[in-house]
Amino acid sequence: MAHNPLDIAAIRRDFPILSQQVNGKPLVYLDNGASAQKPLAVLDAMDRYYREMHSNVHRGAHTLGDRATNAFEGARKTVQAFLNAASTREIIWTRGTTEAINLVANGLAPRLRAGDEILVSHMEHHANIVPWQMLAERTGAVLKVIAVTPEGELDMDSFHSQLGERTRVLAVTHVSNVLGTVNPVVELVRAAKAAGAITVIDGAQAVPHYQPDVQALDCDFYAFSAHKLFGPTGIGVLYGRESVLEAMPPYQGGGEMIERVSFEKTTWNTLPYKFEAGTPAIAEAVGLAAAIDYINGLDRNALEAAEHALLLRANALVDSVPGMDIIGTAKHKVPVLSFKIAGLHPSDIGTLLDQQGIAIRTGHHCAMPLMDFYGVPGTARASFAFYNTLDEVEQLFAALQKIQRLFA
Ligand SMILES: Cc1ncc(COP(=O)(O)O)c(C=O)c1O
Repeated sequence: MAHNPLDIAAIRRDFPILSQQVNGKPLVYLDNGASAQKPLAVLDAMDRYYREMHSNVHRGAHTLGDRATNAFEGARKTVQAFLNAASTREIIWTRGTTEAINLVANGLAPRLRAGDEILVSHMEHHANIVPWQMLAERTGAVLKVIAVTPEGELDMDSFHSQLGERTRVLAVTHVSNVLGTVNPVVELVRAAKAAGAITVIDGAQAVPHYQPDVQALDCDFYAFSAHKLFGPTGIGVLYGRESVLEAMPPYQGGGEMIERVSFEKTTWNTLPYKFEAGTPAIAEAVGLAAAIDYINGLDRNALEAAEHALLLRANALVDSVPGMDIIGTAKHKVPVLSFKIAGLHPSDIGTLLDQQGIAIRTGHHCAMPLMDFYGVPGTARASFAFYNTLDEVEQLFAALQKIQRLFA
């Protein structure tokens, strides 16, 4: 639905869940980093798909099959345009960011030898650590870690000093889910490419805030999950450079990913199907395309400015809560606020806020090495989306002040 891009009240009406009551209070949803809410456009597109089009795809057997295939492949084109990928052959459907990174780690195994190096950063989500550890175990490669500064930025000296002729893979997050830091991915990719490394960018937390251009970034892989981009769960995207994908073995075996099967020899399908074994998440692909179309209908620059205003307001209110400390104060941040309050356990903060209808996330955020770096078992994290309001920021801080007064 077209409306003034800064009419947040109208935008909020597009998201039915935002008008729910939770625990007798109007919902204040500040857990967008974990999963974002869905606009009607996504719900309607998926509903319509099941009512009018559903059948299996790529079978060519009947009209419904053609409709489903057109919707599914149309969704791939929408994603291609969103990422500015050169071709739909470079857009692979996965279950999410996690599966996308596992697919890449698996596919790069034949390229790695004992002593080769895989470079990740200290601020990665487990999804961008564990697959590389498993790959290192399998191949004898060594995992190296780029240090993080106390403010939560990548230590670029640490990056440059560890990037070398043995570096085969650089795998870093575009935006940190804990710190909100926006990493200098262009600079990282350029240096890693010059060193001859394959570059993998975890875009899970970036796409809700920015539209990446994979050709400008010049990375080999870029992964994201639909559910953080206002789309459905159960589907994600791996962008892969065609030449690199061509050289990689398939990930899973089964239907769809083959050209011809015999007991003597099986040959692989062309890209992207070589990496898409089995019946895909068709309705979810349609839902993701609807989410992208919805966002494309908004002015992203205006939304970015509105999100930044949320972050500024939150930062300005930190001093109003005695003992509150922010973890992650990078210069370039998305509106994510990880914090601790002296005398309060993060999970108690989460429970007490929930009683007031305010949803945040608490815990280690699947980033245990980063928690160890900051010497905390976990943090409380409020993560904002463009549909959040300055009033909701005020409500969060009013609730935190009360919790601090009563319980710290
Ligand atoms: C930075 C980052 N990478 C990867 C993931 C994993 O995403 P998914 O669970 O959708 O596969 C997340 C999820 O929180 C994330 O924040």
